[in-house]
This record gives sequence, structure tokens and C-alpha cells, in this order.
Amino acid sequence: MNKTIQSLCSQFKCEIVTPELINATQLLLSDFADKVDLQLQNDLMSDMMYKYTELSRSLEESNRIIAQREMELKKYSEHLEELVDAKVREISDAQIATIYALVKLAESRDGDTGAHIERTAQLCRLLAEKLRQLPEFSEIIDDEYIENIYRSSPLHDIGKVGIPDAILQKPGKLTPEEYEIMMTHAEIGAKTLEDVAKQYKGNTFIKMGLEIAKGHHEKWDGTGYPNGLSGKDIPLSARIMAIVDVYDALRSKRSYKEGFSHEKSAKIIEEGMGTHFDPLLVGVFLRYQNEFRDLYDSITHSYL
Ligand SMILES: [Fe+2]
Repeated sequence: MNKTIQSLCSQFKCEIVTPELINATQLLLSDFADKVDLQLQNDLMSDMMYKYTELSRSLEESNRIIAQREMELKKYSEHLEELVDAKVREISDAQIATIYALVKLAESRDGDTGAHIERTAQLCRLLAEKLRQLPEFSEIIDDEYIENIYRSSPLHDIGKVGIPDAILQKPGKLTPEEYEIMMTHAEIGAKTLEDVAKQYKGNTFIKMGLEIAKGHHEKWDGTGYPNGLSGKDIPLSARIMAIVDVYDALRSKRSYKEGFSHEKSAKIIEEGMGTHFDPLLVGVFLRYQNEFRDLYDSITHSYL
């Protein structure tokens, strides 16, 4: 540094070089150097800040575009799902409507109406919903089970298409021989649905329809038909249908009887607890019997 100062002094013809002059020059030079560095740093910093701001803006813009695209994709995907769901529902509803029409046609031969089909479907669903609240059934009965029992329960008497009119439409009591023939409707229905089930192996709706058609006249104590199954060997769906079918038959008017009151019908169901019907299911039916009565009444009135 001193050499630089001395060279400067000689350049500017400064003859007397005192320590004070050296100090002052040193201070000036150091101040100048600081200022130069600071300016450079400031320039660099402001350049970097500018570039950083530009980058941030560009990143924000990219994120905004990505978020917008994601939103559009989500909306499109939801729309697509809705379209698929609507299509599936449409096909499924059309199939169910066709099945119901055939069942109605079959059942009209013995004087039943659409009300019977709708009542059994809704009463089965109600009993299944109540059973679902019990720990014993919470694992077995889910939304799909409830939907299936509602849709497939109308198939329970589909085998009646194979019963001759003379028996099906007989106004009086059936003879033992006629009753034997009448009982075959469970097997005829099961056979028909077994053939369908073979073609649609994974179809839970057909599977449950088959269980119900085959097992709805089985009894808890093993004295029912067609296979004399007892207890839990009878599929749950068929045990549910057994109660609903008998309740509906008791309350409905027939050529040989008037419709019974709810109280009388519920009493008869209670008497069949543990013999005809699963006692646990009867307990639930009795606990919520007012709901079953109201549902039966409202559907019946809506068909009048
Ligand atoms: Fe039946």
C-alpha cells in the first residue's frame, strides 16, 4: 500500500510524504475500495433479486395453470363418473323393471297385485336395516345386501308360474295332493334361478334371489320345505323373507279370508318364534312392529 501511495505522490509531484499524508491517502483509498465493493454487491444483489422475483412470478403462474388443469381434470372425471353411474343405473333399473313386470304377470294369476311385490320388497329391506344394527349381523348386512334384498325378494314366488291354474286359483282350501303340488313352487323357482346364476356367477342379486326362492318356506325347526333345513342352515335372506311373506299373507285379504289386523298378525308371528321363524329376527320384528305396520299400510293405501 505504501508503495502505491509513494508512486501516487511522485506522479502528482508531491515532494513531502508525511505519515499523516500516507494515513489520509490510505483512508481515502480504503473508503473508495469499500464503496466500489458495496456498489458491486448492490448491483449483484439487485440483479439477483430481480431474477428471483421473475422466477417466483413464473413459478406462481405455472402453479396456477397446474391447479387450473387439475380442477378441470377433476371436474371432467366427476362428470364421467356421473355419466357412467347414470348409465349403469339406467340399465339396472330397466332390468329390474323387466323382472318386476314378469313377476307381476306371474303373480297376477293368483290374484296378487303389484302391492304385494312392493310390500315384500320394502318390508324385507326394513327388517334387514333393523338387523344391521345388531352386532351379529353388522358384518353380513351392508348397503349392497340391503339393496339386493330389496331388489331380489320379489322373485320369491317366481316358481308359481309352474303351478296349474286349478290349484293356484282355487278359492277354497287345497287338498293334501294339491298342497304337495303347490309346494313345488319353491323348487321350480330355485331351478329357474340356478340356471341364470350359472351364467352370471358373480351376480349377488341373482344369488340372493335364488336363496330366497329356494328357502322362504323352510322353517327354523326343520319342518319346512323343500329341503327341511333348520336354524342358520337356512340363508339369512330366506329367514327374513319367511317372516315378511307370512306377515304380508296374514294381513292381506284372500278369497277364503279377510285381512287380519296388524296385532293379530304380529301375535301369530310371535307364536312362530323358534319353531317357524328365527327367534332373533322375530324379536327385532316385534321391537319395531309399529314401523312394519305403518309401512304395510302406506304401501297398501298407495295402491288403492
Ligand atoms: Fe312362496
